[in-house]
Amino acid sequence: MSQNRHHNPVQDYIDQTFAPDDELLQTLRAKGETLRTGIQISAGEGRLLYILAKMLGAKRILELGCFMGYSTIYLARALPEDGELITLESNAQCATLARQHFAQTNLPITLIEGDAHEILPSLEGTFDLIFIDADKISYHYYLKALLPLLRTGGLMVGDNTLLSGTMLGKRVSNISAPAIEAMKAFNEMMADPDLFDGVMIPTAEGMTIGIKR
Ligand code: DHB
Ligand code: MG
Repeated sequence: MSQNRHHNPVQDYIDQTFAPDDELLQTLRAKGETLRTGIQISAGEGRLLYILAKMLGAKRILELGCFMGYSTIYLARALPEDGELITLESNAQCATLARQHFAQTNLPITLIEGDAHEILPSLEGTFDLIFIDADKISYHYYLKALLPLLRTGGLMVGDNTLLSGTMLGKRVSNISAPAIEAMKAFNEMMADPDLFDGVMIPTAEGMTIGIKR
């Protein structure tokens, strides 16, 4: 899934021109690369999330899966002073490191460590923007569970929605048939005009966005 995020000249140009990372983001990205190469969003994709959140005037953001916190920080930087971002992370090592990274900012980020399947029912209120970047096999389940948590006119965003090209018919050995089915169902639901005004942004990994109707 990670290969495409490297050696992509369009992405490299965008990253260099529009999204030079500051020291904190460079450091945490490098740490993430040593732990799991290529799974972090690109700088330009971070910038895109930031702009989407700003356009929306998002005050409350929910993220599923933060890894080192790279996308989290881009999203949280778009918030106003009274905004808040809640991020869920199931991996204890990632949660510990991400917390250390967030502590180096003044951003209003709350990390909840645990399995989203268990945490989602306990979340209160609605969100203006929800970013799903967690276990791919659960994307359809998450979307159904998250729909009531997104306000009307809010933005749902999913990363990796081409699922390594498997949505285009590519065969990839480490991606299971149930994960492919789940991602197909996710994209179909995001494309349902009764539920969303949706589209996929053609990033290397695919990023599906939809405004809740
Ligand atoms: C994987 C997860 C991601 O969120 C991503 O962007 C790329 C790869 C993975 O689990 O393999
Ligand atoms: Mg991802």
